[in-house]
Amino acid sequence: MYKIAVIPGDGTGQEVVHEGLKVLEAVASKLDIKHELVFYDLGGERYKKTGELLPDSVVEELKRFDAIYLGAIGHPDVKPGILEKGILLKMRFMLDQYINLRPVKLFAGVETPLKDKGPEDIDFVVVRENTEGLYTGSGGFLKYGTADEIAIQESINTRKGVERCVRYAFDYCSQRRERKNLTFCGKTNVLTYAHDLWQRTFDEIAKEYPEVTTDYANVDAICMWMVKNPEWFDVIVTDNMFGDIITDLAAMIQGGVGVAAGGNINPEGVSMFEPMGGSAPKYTGQNIINPIASVAALQMMLAVLGEEEAAGLVEAAIKKVISQDMQSMAAGKMGHSTSEVGDLLADFIATS
Ligand code: IPM
Ligand code: MN
Repeated sequence: MYKIAVIPGDGTGQEVVHEGLKVLEAVASKLDIKHELVFYDLGGERYKKTGELLPDSVVEELKRFDAIYLGAIGHPDVKPGILEKGILLKMRFMLDQYINLRPVKLFAGVETPLKDKGPEDIDFVVVRENTEGLYTGSGGFLKYGTADEIAIQESINTRKGVERCVRYAFDYCSQRRERKNLTFCGKTNVLTYAHDLWQRTFDEIAKEYPEVTTDYANVDAICMWMVKNPEWFDVIVTDNMFGDIITDLAAMIQGGVGVAAGGNINPEGVSMFEPMGGSAPKYTGQNIINPIASVAALQMMLAVLGEEEAAGLVEAAIKKVISQDMQSMAAGKMGHSTSEVGDLLADFIATS
């Protein structure tokens, strides 16, 4: 019996989670996967009403679930940074979700802005460190607001934190497919301390995985090659900040935020799965947002829970509906409403 916490969150998060759960019910009844859902109303609306972000008591409750399924957090009337830091980052840190896993796969029938590239070229995974680097909040102001102001924002890289991330990436890579190549994405020519630690750790762990070939690329070069030669990549491991940036670039080449999903993973604890799209206030309530990314997040959740058959069925449904039913991945241009896309996915699963 899986216990799943559901955080629909703000804006279109509610709509896409609704479709994701429709798909979950379809696959769960087909394969007899017993589960229980508990809903949490975290997000911008709750914050505006009560001033609460992510109470510690809720964090303690979340620790007792098998997984967390999230829609989106973000509110046009809340100052940038408050919800991000107070809910999303707090959850990552308190639940020690030290991996941000971002599969980058172009499905047949999805348009990519890359000329002459197709599904056979765009199929890689980014493993982003998710609890350290520039995200820890280490630093501060001196002489705030004066002409002599100093702002310091430190990148924290611990041997343990780097090692567990790199090890996860090697493990993941060695199980992913025939050709196994892990690229370390860094900036060793400038970040001569932080990424020296990364490089040494990477080289050391590599010895334990003789079946995995390795290489190195500077983050700026990765940005060029992801556009020019995405087929070069299999698995990329990188730090928190660089991972944040290159995964948005990657989302665009796989067809945009309508299809891109991610997992905030604690391999020894509870993980959270989410679509990359955000709360999209301008599309909220119109039943036109693309729910595919949210369903892809559900697929990841099932895979991480060990429900491989269910994950495979959800992926088959996504592939079928994208290639045969949907006209576009863009909101309002799908040729179907949000709920119709959910129905098509669920029907495919029920009848396959
Ligand atoms: C992401 C997001 C977050 C990040 C924001 C919302 C804090 O951009 O999940 O990539 O920077 O990690
Ligand atoms: Mn980001």
